Amino acid sequence: MTSSYRIASIPGDGIGVDVTVEARKVLDRAAASHGFSLSWQEFDWSCERYTKTGSMMPDDGIERLSRFDGIFLGAVGFPGVPDHVSLWGLLIPVRRAFGQYVNLRPVRLLPGTTSALAGRSADELEMVIVRENSEGEYSEIGGRHNRGLGNEFVLQESVFTRVGVERIIRYAFELAKTRTGRVCSATKSNGLIHSMPFWDEIFAEISSEYPDVHAEQCHVDALAARMVQAPDRLDVVVASNLFGDILSDLAAAVTGGLGMAPSGNINPTGELPSMFEAVHGSAPDIAGQGIANPVAQILAGAMLLEHLGETVAAQDVRAAVEKVLEEGTVQTPDLGGKSTTAELGSAVVAALS
Ligand code: NAI
Ligand code: MG
Repeated sequence: MTSSYRIASIPGDGIGVDVTVEARKVLDRAAASHGFSLSWQEFDWSCERYTKTGSMMPDDGIERLSRFDGIFLGAVGFPGVPDHVSLWGLLIPVRRAFGQYVNLRPVRLLPGTTSALAGRSADELEMVIVRENSEGEYSEIGGRHNRGLGNEFVLQESVFTRVGVERIIRYAFELAKTRTGRVCSATKSNGLIHSMPFWDEIFAEISSEYPDVHAEQCHVDALAARMVQAPDRLDVVVASNLFGDILSDLAAAVTGGLGMAPSGNINPTGELPSMFEAVHGSAPDIAGQGIANPVAQILAGAMLLEHLGETVAAQDVRAAVEKVLEEGTVQTPDLGGKSTTAELGSAVVAALS
């Protein structure tokens, strides 16, 4: 009997829609040649839906998603709808309801692409960012006071729990054991005098449980500079929600750009669905032109296959992407070419066959 996985697809807005179509083509082909199938159900949850109905997703949205084996998200966000609406109306509720406390963001300089850092090769630029995905600086606690008055002020609180910090740091150490055995923690304990010393304390506690893993910590500003100047000294980078968000765009930029960077919102217990998406957003500046690079979304699809246990199919998808990039004849404009999203997607499908 062939296994079938139920996948919820949420293309969202802008280029999220274009890149999801291409990634699905690739994943369906990979599934067919590995004897399993993906049973997709598409949801139109988006900013467009918000402008029509006043909500990004229906009230029972989370409950409906909970019945799937995985969630495949394009990107949400569109001019006219404030970004906090798209973030707090869909992304953050899903991440939190499904305990997707790990945001895993692998970064690699792929063959055939030019790094913003000239002269670097693929083996010098490979790291993974383990971003805390459920608490930290992204919190609803706070408020706006004395609105419109001269003494107006806002408070935006961060939330760091022992359980939350321990589990993300432990995940990073476990991951490091399967890679080069190096973990770097992003801190800022000089400026954030409550949350970051607590983070550092737990990092030190957990690192003592892993004597074989090389552990170090680095202030996030210095770490940003190091990602550019000496990226070869980094492998697993563990960071809070905000720091991890910023560092992963930087890491994407020093490799092939945002069009290449995938991301997984992972519930490591597997009891609830995980969600896979590109790091990039809906790119309104190029939306509707059919020229977005689908590689990030395709690689997010490979992470989905890996999570489902279809490791060989996931490897095939990655290899097909690398083959097309290395050949360099089909490239979207961000890679220096003139090809469309669909042409690059089709080239990856062809490389799989
Ligand atoms: P963005 O990632 O959408 O775009 C930044 C720049 O990178 C743009 O110049 C864009 O053209 C380029 N770019 C991004 N992906 C590309 C691709 N696949 N191929 C070629 N070029 C690509 O970030 P921005 O402009 O800050 O945000 C736009 C909207 O997306 C906002 O509404 C934001 O809230 C939302 N957003 C949503 C995310 C999500 O759904 N997870 C993540 C980040 C932003
Ligand atoms: Mg981001």
